[in-house]
Amino acid sequence: MWLSFISFVACISHASTDPSAPSPYLRVPSPRQLAWHRLEYYAFLHFGPNTFTNEEWGKSQSTPDVFNPTSLDTDQWAKTFADAGMAGMILTAKHHDGMCLWNTTTTSYKIGNGKWAKDRLAKGLDADVVKMAAASAKKFGIKFGIYLSPWDIHRDPAMPKNLTGTPYDEPQIFGDNTPGDYNDLYKSQLTELVTMRLGDGAPIELFEIWLDGASGSDTVQTFDWTAFRDIIRQNQPEAIMWGHQGVDARWVGNEDGVTVATNWHTISRTQDSTRYSGDQLQTGVRDGLYWAPAEADARIRDGWFYHSTEKPKNADALMSMYLKSVGQSVNLLLDVPPDTTGKIVNSDAEILLRFKSQRDALLKNAIPKAGLAFNASSVRGNNSILYGPANVLDDNNETYWAMDDDKKSGWLEIDLGGSVSIDAFIVQEHIALGQRIGGYSIDAYVNGAFRTVVTGTSMGYMRIHRLSSTSTTTRLRLRITQANATPLISSVQVLGARS
Ligand SMILES: *[C@@H]1O[C@H](CO)[C@@H](O)[C@H](O)[C@H]1NC(C)=O
Ligand SMILES: *[C@@H]1O[C@H](CO)[C@@H](O)[C@H](O)[C@H]1NC(C)=O
Ligand SMILES: *[C@@H]1O[C@H](CO)[C@@H](O)[C@H](O)[C@H]1NC(C)=O
Ligand SMILES: *[C@@H]1O[C@H](CO)[C@@H](O)[C@H](O)[C@H]1NC(C)=O
Ligand SMILES: *[C@@H]1O[C@H](CO)[C@@H](O)[C@H](O)[C@H]1NC(C)=O
Repeated sequence: MWLSFISFVACISHASTDPSAPSPYLRVPSPRQLAWHRLEYYAFLHFGPNTFTNEEWGKSQSTPDVFNPTSLDTDQWAKTFADAGMAGMILTAKHHDGMCLWNTTTTSYKIGNGKWAKDRLAKGLDADVVKMAAASAKKFGIKFGIYLSPWDIHRDPAMPKNLTGTPYDEPQIFGDNTPGDYNDLYKSQLTELVTMRLGDGAPIELFEIWLDGASGSDTVQTFDWTAFRDIIRQNQPEAIMWGHQGVDARWVGNEDGVTVATNWHTISRTQDSTRYSGDQLQTGVRDGLYWAPAEADARIRDGWFYHSTEKPKNADALMSMYLKSVGQSVNLLLDVPPDTTGKIVNSDAEILLRFKSQRDALLKNAIPKAGLAFNASSVRGNNSILYGPANVLDDNNETYWAMDDDKKSGWLEIDLGGSVSIDAFIVQEHIALGQRIGGYSIDAYVNGAFRTVVTGTSMGYMRIHRLSSTSTTTRLRLRITQANATPLISSVQVLGARS
């Protein structure tokens, strides 16, 4: 029997309270991770002394006077990203050079001790760039995160020194074999950031804290990840702690904003274990021990920091990057660096908007649900209201199509109620109960037979399949060909136009 979408639209599902609901499968995302998956695409801001010395990895050679933006405008950053459809922005509060962009008490090596900040304070203006950026993000309704480099060249005895005799000549405590405890310094810096209060007195809200794994030094420093995590959890319970391989999200293994087609949200190592290779980080580990989904970091230009000689990528390149990250179940963190004026340059802002238009043209083109009808190989407990195939097209992310526990493969069909020219599909697994699916196909009914137009492996949070050429059909079938537990499909969207 074909089930019409309309008859289910008004039903409120109570699958979560149904005693026969599917049980979680192995590892599942925490609520903070589930919320983070849904952010999908957000900005990285590399800004600091390197912006002014034209470097990528400054070696802590300059005094804070080097930080001298001529017309800093953090509102412009937040507005640019909000307009571009990005969910948030993450700012380098401290890069490897060690200079702090907030008014820390842990070091004299902060922009607050430079001429720019002093001039602003004299005019009654704020000079704490982290606080200013957090307030701007809030004002424009996007999330805010921080990057706090664990590696700190300013404190690293293996790195050259140029600040002897200045107030910035501080003890080189970085390393397991140096006097002093660098972990204590890092914990104090982290605590200041996660407990910061904005100008209006409200506590800062952080969605992600980026603990970079990079180091260009031979100095061995064992980081106290457990203590870092506890500080974050206690003060910012919603924040994702990003590290090379977790705690909450992992590196994707490259800096190109892409991943491989088959990749899993779980891994089986912690931050204290041997590091995974780039390829292993891309793939993850099926049925792994920890939910630590990948985030793909990438740059709109060649460098992370602004360099006047570099040009931004074009919108087509960003679109292709997006389909290989967000379109493959991985969040995209795109770096868009402010220049020496302290603003995002116009060319980059324009490209972000052009890229948004391209995304919208593809993704906002779901064919209307009215007139669609569904069928499935089977439905869990024969209960079509709680688990029927029409659930994949409602706008409720808590509902899904499910079969009985012993069924690990099956199909659902959509009768399109007429001819549709299809450009793309979006499919989503109900990951709240674990990642289960390892193989699927989408078939289109053409000239009296089903023809496979999409083949996928690991599904996970979301897959966007753009077809290489438009397919015109009246019926579709999603086949789950492999799963390690009964598959749960949360959403299927058909993108195209009725012909
Ligand atoms: C070294 O520090 C001095 C004094 O702060 C500064 O004038 C000079 O430019 C610095 N050298 C480099 C390579 O940054
Ligand atoms: C940093 O904080 C101190 C103490 O509250 C204050 O006197 C100073 O003006 C602040 N500096 C900046 C740059 O905000
Ligand atoms: C719907 O699917 C069932 C199998 O689950 C099948 O027996 C039935 O014929 C299908 N209905 C139509 C109208 O295709
Ligand atoms: C669902 O319906 C099918 C076909 O009528 C039947 O064989 C099966 O036992 C039913 N399952 C449940 C859980 O009622
Ligand atoms: C569905 O979305 C709401 C809000 O957008 C969120 O709170 C909830 O956790 C989501 N549920 C799932 C299963 O993703």
